[in-house]
Amino acid sequence: MPPIAIRTRRLILRSPQARDLAAILNLHTNPANLAFDRTPPGPPPTLSSFEPKISEWRAMADRMERIFMIVAIPSNSQRSEFLGSNVRLGYVENEVQDDVVIGITGFNEFVKRDEDSCTEVPHGKFKSTNVGVMIDAAYCRNGYASEALSAILDIGFDHFGCDFIAADTMATNVPFMALMARLGLAACGNEVTGRERGTEMEYAVNREEWIRARATLCEANRVNK
Ligand SMILES: CC(C)(COP(=O)(O)OP(=O)(O)OC[C@H]1O[C@@H](n2cnc3c(N)ncnc32)[C@H](O)[C@@H]1OP(=O)(O)O)[C@@H](O)C(=O)NCCC(=O)NCCS
Repeated sequence: MPPIAIRTRRLILRSPQARDLAAILNLHTNPANLAFDRTPPGPPPTLSSFEPKISEWRAMADRMERIFMIVAIPSNSQRSEFLGSNVRLGYVENEVQDDVVIGITGFNEFVKRDEDSCTEVPHGKFKSTNVGVMIDAAYCRNGYASEALSAILDIGFDHFGCDFIAADTMATNVPFMALMARLGLAACGNEVTGRERGTEMEYAVNREEWIRARATLCEANRVNK
């Protein structure tokens, strides 16, 4: 699959490039972003430990195992290109040069409907995916996670044909649970106890639930149209 980019009203969600490494490292080492991090303990990441990841992420996306994406605010010129339509989701080639990286998102895994291997855009091929989002603490509470995650849900259902989309976090992660509630998806969450890392919240959103939640958000003008 070629590098992808999803445009939303204020953001570009796009495949990472080598020039993003320092920004990705900052996101993963800023303690303010890591209060609910579930990464197993180990040496802190460094630029050189991250370097091979760009090609690993690309290879995983090619195999449709995982699509790791940058959340960025486009430059003024890219923004003005996008004026004229309220909001749009679409795939564009990733030519951006000077956007500002503010977070990460993406599809953490794909569960196939059948055993066919498929490396092209596989509309209708997937039963489910798991998604997540992190916005740097300096940019939080501006609606960016809502905008990014709703775009990811749109693409997961409309482009990848998923029946349902999962997300999970620690049950202490109030900001993420509040984000899901703001998107109208609180009822799709279940507390699961007994996990190695502690109690977790697991969300499973089906297409109909997202269509309903999205319609309410659009009416309230709170998410991408
Ligand atoms: C959770 C997270 C993604 C929210 O990002 P964000 O860009 O601030 O989210 P939004 O601005 O879209 O917030 C949407 C709503 O979520 C709720 N919310 C977000 N952060 C909150 C917080 N710290 N406390 C309480 N509610 C919060 C609010 O209802 C907010 O709406 P409001 O600002 O109009 O009141 C961000 O805090 C983060 O990246 N945390 C670390 C990574 C993480 O835990 N990811 C989740 C696991 S996948």
